[in-house]
Amino acid sequence: MEKDAKIFIAGHNGMVGAALMRRLDSAGFKNLITRPSSQLNLTNQKKVYDFFMKEKPDYVFLAAARVGGIVANITYPAEFIYNNIQVQTNVIHSAWKSGVKKLLFLGSSCIYPKGCPQPVKEEYLLTGKLEPTSEPYAIAKIAGIKMCQSYNSEYGTNYISVIPADLHGPYDDFDPETSHVLPALIRKMHEAKTCNEPEVVVWGTGSPRRESLHVDDLADACIFLMNNYDESEMINIGSGEDLSIKELALLIKDVIGFKGDVIFDESKPDGAPRKLLDISKIRKLGWSPKINLEKGIRQTYQWYEDYVKAK
Ligand SMILES: NC(=O)c1ccc[n+]([C@@H]2O[C@H](COP(=O)([O-])OP(=O)(O)OC[C@H]3O[C@@H](n4cnc5c(N)ncnc54)[C@H](OP(=O)(O)O)[C@@H]3O)[C@@H](O)[C@H]2O)c1
Repeated sequence: MEKDAKIFIAGHNGMVGAALMRRLDSAGFKNLITRPSSQLNLTNQKKVYDFFMKEKPDYVFLAAARVGGIVANITYPAEFIYNNIQVQTNVIHSAWKSGVKKLLFLGSSCIYPKGCPQPVKEEYLLTGKLEPTSEPYAIAKIAGIKMCQSYNSEYGTNYISVIPADLHGPYDDFDPETSHVLPALIRKMHEAKTCNEPEVVVWGTGSPRRESLHVDDLADACIFLMNNYDESEMINIGSGEDLSIKELALLIKDVIGFKGDVIFDESKPDGAPRKLLDISKIRKLGWSPKINLEKGIRQTYQWYEDYVKAK
């Protein structure tokens, strides 16, 4: 990307979009265009088309989506499939019509089959059944990847798709109804510490292994790929390492300074035994993650404390 290129960040107010804005700004890209959903609802085909024809961006980061954890996926499956298919279809099609040079589409690791071998390689896509609770969301994301690939094949566009691991960092979702495991544990332990509670209860045995990538590492990887990757095949972006939920809970307990006990409620379900992306493909291109987990959790907790105080 040229430093004066016009770059549209769709979803700039979200966790990933905001990280892309910070990273692009610090790298000297100043011609960034953004629209909040209140001004440009990306589900509106005509408005999206008119916006692209008027603004004619050179590059697009497609980080606008309806996103959430397991409870949100189960409660709002229609919203997840409708919003995501509409947004990505409108943006990808209008990008083609208006001559965008390159577009980056953000997928999600839940597109991979349930129970597939670990670490998960890109080639495992569509080799088995999906996790039923997030199937509408995952199918929308798979459609987005296939749409990018189809436009590249038929129209000669340069649209790339990335598959990030679960994320942590500023603007994370700490709502117990919708959040992922890491922010959910930060909130629980913070509240227990504040209220001097003797213990925190965590669902399951604590043995499943999980991966979490700092959102600033994701933004760095996305910009790296915009500059260095032109293939239709999607590419994983992860931290390259996992740890058990028990290890994660104890690390968060330590960072937060919660002095009580962490109890594992083994009557509750564990979920998948392991979720780790294989990142050998992006490593071979010359990118690797830079923010270690403890540092990332400290930064995320700092952001959460500031956010709670400001409320
Ligand atoms: N967070 C994760 O752990 C994670 C992990 C893997 C992949 N990803 C992927 O990364 C992408 C971004 O996720 P995120 O965590 O940054 O989500 P987020 O924090 O919920 O932000 C999503 C953004 O999308 C925008 N948006 C949603 N619907 C829209 C619409 N109809 N019109 C215009 N804008 C709309 C929202 O804009 P407004 O704020 O203006 O309403 C919001 O800022 C998603 O594709 C997701 O699948 C995220």
